Amino acid sequence: MRDLQAVFAFVEKHRRRRQSNKVLHGHPSPVHWLEQDLPMDEVLQARQRSSRQIRKRVNLYVGTPYCLPTDPDRCGFCLFPSEIYTGHRQLDEYLGYLEREGDMFRDHFAGTELASIYFGGGTSNLYKADQYPRLMDVVRGVFEIPPHIEVTLEGIPQTFSHDKLLGMKQSGMNRISMGVQQLDNELIKASGRKQTAEQVFRTLESCDAIRLPASVDLIFGWPNQTLATMVRDLEAVAATGVTHITHYELNVAGRTDFSRNRRGELPTTEDNLEMYRVGKAVLESCGYTQVTPYDFERRDGALASSYLYEELFRQPFQQDEHGPIGFDAWGWGYAGISFFFGTPQSPGWAFMNQVRIEEYFSRIRNGQFPVMRGFHYSPVDLRLHLLFQELQGMSVDREAYRKRFGIDVVDEHRVVWAAFEDLGWVEVSRDRVTLTGDGVFYLPLLQTALAHDRCEQMRRKQASTSVAVPVLPLVASPVGAGSLV
Ligand SMILES: C[S@@+](CC[C@H](N)C(=O)[O-])C[C@H]1O[C@@H](n2cnc3c(N)ncnc32)[C@H](O)[C@@H]1O
Ligand code: SF4
Repeated sequence: MRDLQAVFAFVEKHRRRRQSNKVLHGHPSPVHWLEQDLPMDEVLQARQRSSRQIRKRVNLYVGTPYCLPTDPDRCGFCLFPSEIYTGHRQLDEYLGYLEREGDMFRDHFAGTELASIYFGGGTSNLYKADQYPRLMDVVRGVFEIPPHIEVTLEGIPQTFSHDKLLGMKQSGMNRISMGVQQLDNELIKASGRKQTAEQVFRTLESCDAIRLPASVDLIFGWPNQTLATMVRDLEAVAATGVTHITHYELNVAGRTDFSRNRRGELPTTEDNLEMYRVGKAVLESCGYTQVTPYDFERRDGALASSYLYEELFRQPFQQDEHGPIGFDAWGWGYAGISFFFGTPQSPGWAFMNQVRIEEYFSRIRNGQFPVMRGFHYSPVDLRLHLLFQELQGMSVDREAYRKRFGIDVVDEHRVVWAAFEDLGWVEVSRDRVTLTGDGVFYLPLLQTALAHDRCEQMRRKQASTSVAVPVLPLVASPVGAGSLV
């Protein structure tokens, strides 16, 4: 954007609109990932080359496609791809395909160290208790699993039985993430999810009993939600002592029921801002520390809180006593999203797997990588992506950015920082750029402003080459690699 006035005008135009967070996919949104028939040999060779220049570790995501049916469809709000669960045979069959996809990557990943594992979806706790060791064995078919790495499994409250939690723990999983969204049994009905608050607390008690760290996802900005119900939920979850709580603003988009039929019942963006402010204050007063706009963790509990999987997304290039390390993300399975970043100087690729299960299966049967489409980073796109990710941690290290890219991040986006500083949403110091006050809530708006010129350029290019953007059933969202936009 040209000058301060242009940024102010942009903010004014957008600040009352619904926000869409960019936690995982950063820049550019997957709507710009237009390369189909990706040259996977080239993608993998590029990754091999970069791993000779910089040590690489892998942050592994393993997806499960299936979800219990709901009315309305997809819980009314969900923008992740998923398939309807009809029975256990689907899971057995799927595990077989997962192994076959692993076979395609085994040689490529030989000797690669894993940094963390996240079993997401869809609903990864639909497996029976004795299938969790099998899931870990599928991973062992490709990687050695180092002792003590973080292994998370994500699921829904009503299918976390005590036996399953034991099966998970015994198989080496050491963290669960439970999608609760709402504790209020009446509000949750809007989503068609058949879970109860009692199941949520029972699961957390079981986790405590077997010393399995747990994280709870809640959503604010829900249809008909009031501040009072939000505070009651937060206090009730915090009172369990759970080590990690995510408190997401609801993304409303696509053809979901909430977007088509419930807009009139949704709080406004300004109501959401108030929910964000109050939610943060409540969680902090209950002993939680804010680590991202949505993540709050307890550092004083008996079970240590960490969420390395997401932390490595925020900081995929790091440095230790042996030199630089790059953390690539491999999204294995249906709808998996991978980031093979290359090096800062020679950026790599992002790609996503098929989001239709039959297509995922048929590619694998034909011996093809089950990739749907992807994006080849340019240096400017990689810089924006990493900036988006680092901003999730609410602060950017200017010196590290300069060392990595040879550019000062403040010079690069001077007018945007200046305008946001003027609004009291950002603080620029000699060493850092830090989000302040409501700036944390408005991070998606800041990210959109930072990438505005580049996205316009991409749009113009797409229009002139008239590339058709494939229609996707998806959106941007927080956890799990399967979400989009
Ligand atoms: C895609 S779900 C997968 C886990 C599990 N199936 C569930 O429903 O909890 C992971 C998390 O994404 C978040 N999520 C999904 N759709 C969202 C949306 N439209 N807005 C905000 N968060 C969303 C929810 O908090 C959810 O817990
Ligand atoms: S919110 Fe979870 S259970 Fe509901 S459709 Fe999305 S992934 Fe499936």
